Amino acid sequence: MVDTKVDLCGITIDNPVIPASGTFGYGYEFAELYDINCLGTFSFKGTTLDPRFGNDTPRIAECPSGMLNSVGLQNPGVDDVIREELPKLERVFHKPVMANVSGFSTDEYAEVVKRLDRSAVSDMIGWYEINISCPNVHGGGMSFGTDPKMAAEVVKAVRWMTDKPIIMKLSPNVTDITEIARACETEGADGISLINTLMGMRFNLRTGKPILANVTGGLSGPAVFPVALRMVYQTAKAVNIPVIGMGGVSSAEDVLEMMMAGAVAVEVGAANLVDPYASRNIVRDLPYAMKKYGIDSF
Ligand SMILES: Cc1cc2nc3c(=O)[nH]c(=O)nc-3n(C[C@H](O)[C@H](O)[C@H](O)COP(=O)(O)O)c2cc1C
Repeated sequence: MVDTKVDLCGITIDNPVIPASGTFGYGYEFAELYDINCLGTFSFKGTTLDPRFGNDTPRIAECPSGMLNSVGLQNPGVDDVIREELPKLERVFHKPVMANVSGFSTDEYAEVVKRLDRSAVSDMIGWYEINISCPNVHGGGMSFGTDPKMAAEVVKAVRWMTDKPIIMKLSPNVTDITEIARACETEGADGISLINTLMGMRFNLRTGKPILANVTGGLSGPAVFPVALRMVYQTAKAVNIPVIGMGGVSSAEDVLEMMMAGAVAVEVGAANLVDPYASRNIVRDLPYAMKKYGIDSF
């Protein structure tokens, strides 16, 4: 039998399959469909200090082999996540969860991590995934992930707030992603995850206006897989900390390709929106794919 276990920043997980933030809610919604304990872990919805309603609609546009989204970090705010969402998750998920944190200032990132880390549900959290790469909000988000100095400032600020592993989630909308990854590593990040969505747009031919109310959005899904793979490969060669690969992963074979590019684990995003069983099916198929390609373990 093959061994699907991997070590993610000092925590062993049963398999490297991780539903990506923003495509798996706070997990318990999917527990109505299947036992989510089959997953390695999952990254919950990007959480900010205050509740956010998100951007105006329409905020989804379909594309060949992918989708554009401009959701804009809709979430109930960190206090509600601690009080309502994580206790609901606790009833159905018995593994460490990845807490995805977003912010509009360095202080906000630090404050959200501080509140989660000092909360009654902090034992549930295995890792913090710090999203410095959201292309759909103004005055924060991606601006931290496109400048090595600002990225480093965020790492420094959250590093003070927790002893748990910090994984910095990077944007593909940069010239050299390795420069940002190295800046995060130098300031004490424990891991890197990539890629967030690629900025794009579409027009409605009838109205002559952009389809998305936000004008631009983030492209994800199978269309971005080769770009993601290339960036994971470059980043894994550039740093000595674990790299989580994502972007267009929708099969067990895609997971293997990401691992070959240097990822230690793999997140699955848009595929969950096409088929809510996608991550479960990838977990199910992974041992067979490993066997097929003569891979005993990672
Ligand atoms: C609808 C939607 C919402 C998302 N929300 C978040 C979020 O809150 N935080 C985050 O870090 N990434 C978010 N992402 C980005 C995904 O986690 C992932 O990085 C990206 O979609 C690439 O993976 P994929 O091609 O498998 O979807 C979102 C993606 C989608 C499609």
